Amino acid sequence: MGTIEDLKPIFSPKSIAVIGASRSPMKIGYEILQNILVQGYEGKVYPINPETPVIMGLKTQPSVLAVKDDIDLAIVAVPAEFVPKVMVECARKKVKGVIVISSGFGETGEKGRLLEEEITAIAKKAGMRLIGPNTLGYKDPIDSLDAAFVFGMPMPGEIALISQSGALCIGMIYYANGEHIGLSRVISVGNKADVDDADIIDYLSQDPETKVIAMYIEGIKNGKKFLDAARRCPKPIVAIKAGRTPAGSAAASTHTGSLSGSDAVYDSAFKQVHIQRAYDVIELFDYARALAFQPPAQGNRVGIISNGGGAGIMTADWCESIGLKVPNLAKKTADALKPYLPNITSARNPLDVTGDARFHRYYVTGSIMLSDPNIDSLIMVCVHAGIARPREYVGAVIKLVEEKRNLKKPIVACWVGGPEVDEVVQDLRVKNIPVYASASRAARAVRCLYDEGKRLDVVSKKRPSS
Ligand code: ACO
Repeated sequence: MGTIEDLKPIFSPKSIAVIGASRSPMKIGYEILQNILVQGYEGKVYPINPETPVIMGLKTQPSVLAVKDDIDLAIVAVPAEFVPKVMVECARKKVKGVIVISSGFGETGEKGRLLEEEITAIAKKAGMRLIGPNTLGYKDPIDSLDAAFVFGMPMPGEIALISQSGALCIGMIYYANGEHIGLSRVISVGNKADVDDADIIDYLSQDPETKVIAMYIEGIKNGKKFLDAARRCPKPIVAIKAGRTPAGSAAASTHTGSLSGSDAVYDSAFKQVHIQRAYDVIELFDYARALAFQPPAQGNRVGIISNGGGAGIMTADWCESIGLKVPNLAKKTADALKPYLPNITSARNPLDVTGDARFHRYYVTGSIMLSDPNIDSLIMVCVHAGIARPREYVGAVIKLVEEKRNLKKPIVACWVGGPEVDEVVQDLRVKNIPVYASASRAARAVRCLYDEGKRLDVVSKKRPSS
């Protein structure tokens, strides 16, 4: 079987055994069973615990071997030293895939590394795919399956998240929820003893619910396999590669047993396969949201509209400092803009529509800028100057995004102000319009869309013509 077929029983299981399902609400084995049930999983669930006959109203079995039905997925949450025995039982039961939540493997040193090798060998011999060990599990908001510990689900959406860190993974889910960013699948890969990032990229490449793959990586064991998977993935990939410095790298080796490797090597490898690199969680989601909901930019020429001169200048600086251009407007465009501008400003790029701009001035100037053949993307800025009307600015951005899709030019929003503006621009987030609280974030999101345009260009040129 291929990777995708192998992973289906793990990610779309018809039956799940929770090995180490616990009676105690304080334990991880309790939480996993609870989370599966809370989300209303419709397949069969088998709590496995030799010490008690019933947990959460479900009859338990002392081992997977006592379960009469087939088991697609076993989630293991018993102490590390008992995992090999449990894995042997899963192999004998012909369980199709296993997630080992337990810590105490390669991340702890030589003894743990040998234990990890042992369970990986059991899985390989039996043809069972293994996720982990030392993983959180996964959360699938599209199919409402919470196969992880820690309570709480992501909002359903189009961005898949693969994380080598469990705690960070949960933090990223809550961050995304707060930003109104929906996720398709969230997969914690832990020590990646068997199933690794490359396998998951292959799996998500074929997932109709996923538009963009976002990743948090500490180390990659099989570089060639990873690069091959990234290269054949038709979807954009954004990744944080942590452990860039000696201090970060040392921490990664005790966290997930990862060898971080040379950062320069990762950097050039990512560039080769067009993985966009982010350096923190905010940047990861800034890029992922732009890639999921705005078209790639066909060129690097950016139009900027702002109701504050300073914010426009800063945005122009950011654009030009990261390889974008803020070109002069065509004469036709400048002439078209003039009737809509107050006398105190001039028709140029960046365009200062001045502090009293209302819906109509933002909307008309945005439409005119977008129709300029020298402009490939648009950044619309709102500064909460005393007379500014952020709600009207938001309305104009929404109307432009909705009306001008056919132009295939990205539009991103940027604002400067206090919590009251943050609250108003939530309307943009709800509509999946990229909106950023700084000029640098907005400019870098546009740069990311420009790089995506280049990736698609390269891919289409490599594709044999039919
Ligand atoms: N089969 C089935 N059930 C068993 C077995 C067995 N062979 N052996 C024990 N059990 C039962 C126990 O009786 C217990 O149930 P009970 O509470 O009703 O008595 C339950 O399984 C759990 O066993 P405990 O021995 O109580 O183990 P505990 O829950 O304390 O710890 C755990 C197990 C959670 C796997 C722990 O060893 C561990 O690894 N914790 C860390 C997990 C983690 O952080 N993972 C990584 C996160 S992601 C990241 O950061 C990279």
